[in-house]
Amino acid sequence: MLFELWQVKPVMAYKVPFVDFPKQYRTLEQELLAAIKDVLTHGDLILREEVRRFEHNMANFVGVRYAVGVNSCTDAMYFSLLAAGVGPGDEVITVAHTFVATVADIVHCGATPILVDVGDDYNMNVDLVEAAITPRTKAIMPVHLNGRVCDMEKLMKIASQHNLVVIEDAAQALGATFDGTKAGSFGTTGCFSFYPAKSLGAAGDAGIVVTNSREIADKIRLYRDHGRQTKDDLAGFGFNSRLDNLQAAILNVKFKHLPRWIERRRELAKLYHQGLSDLPELKLPPPPQSDDRYFDVYQNYVVRSQERDKLVAHLRESGIEILISWPKPMHHQKALGLNHFHLPRTEQISREVLSLPLIPEIGNEQVEYVIERIGNFFVKREV
Ligand SMILES: Cc1ncc(COP(=O)(O)O)c(C=O)c1O
Repeated sequence: MLFELWQVKPVMAYKVPFVDFPKQYRTLEQELLAAIKDVLTHGDLILREEVRRFEHNMANFVGVRYAVGVNSCTDAMYFSLLAAGVGPGDEVITVAHTFVATVADIVHCGATPILVDVGDDYNMNVDLVEAAITPRTKAIMPVHLNGRVCDMEKLMKIASQHNLVVIEDAAQALGATFDGTKAGSFGTTGCFSFYPAKSLGAAGDAGIVVTNSREIADKIRLYRDHGRQTKDDLAGFGFNSRLDNLQAAILNVKFKHLPRWIERRRELAKLYHQGLSDLPELKLPPPPQSDDRYFDVYQNYVVRSQERDKLVAHLRESGIEILISWPKPMHHQKALGLNHFHLPRTEQISREVLSLPLIPEIGNEQVEYVIERIGNFFVKREV
């Protein structure tokens, strides 16, 4: 049977939800409605001022020259690979512990994904990259997972030594930095997602490519709009993948709140750390400010337990919404034909990870409740 997202109905109101779109909407209602009304009353729907403004906001925020709004991070990565000349016969190095889009985009270009294992921080283990490089390698796609940037110092060094393109999957890392440099600004391009559950979420799908290359930005502008150079002149075949002006208007409103939301995410991460760090059975992410090189934005708060499935059942029974990203790594998805890779750390992580609710819309008392229920689980298991 085919899975469709609309088949997943909310079965219960959670005491601690993983996302709370209505609550976020209520807090911004006046600002959002004014922005939506403005767009609709002017009829500015496709590639208009709000898109330009959002692109400007994002380029400034990430610290790059250009930003091109598209309809998703999936297309942002696909267009980046195409613009960098990745195609049939090329190999692209990435990870299996990621959302399918990273790997799918490589395949859609006609290239071959080469999957390397991740490290303890869930990001690409950059020490394994050189061994995966062959004469066919054209690009590396690091994924900055859960709001933490990959070790980009080592990775960029390898890329430049081997003359490789770097396309950053920064879908989960808007605002995160490594050595003071923002996710998305290290590579040839950085790709972001504004899927509603992301820390900056649209009211539907949206994405963006950021880059310092004028040539790449120009190519992506063509790809997103049918290859049109002008209304009547085509530079080639393109796609229909424009960021909607209405979504951009919503994103411009929310963008103003992003720094505050990131701070709140970091506060909640600190709270979890304080409440859970004395449980030896649970592996936690590093707390904020524990390493000067990293500014983490906690897009997800991922913990690990060898008793993951029982713990998840216990938390769900307690009214806490838990996500598992991802229980099956990409090389274990039979239909994708990637099962020739052997990635022990990825496989272990897939068995052990669970994501706890961490959104600016939840209160400290809700986090304390999650902490209490986790403590209760491990106490009960000791008896
Ligand atoms: C790591 C990662 N890459 C890519 C994507 C794809 O983003 P989008 O849904 O905007 O295409 C996501 C979204 O969930 C993601 O988490």
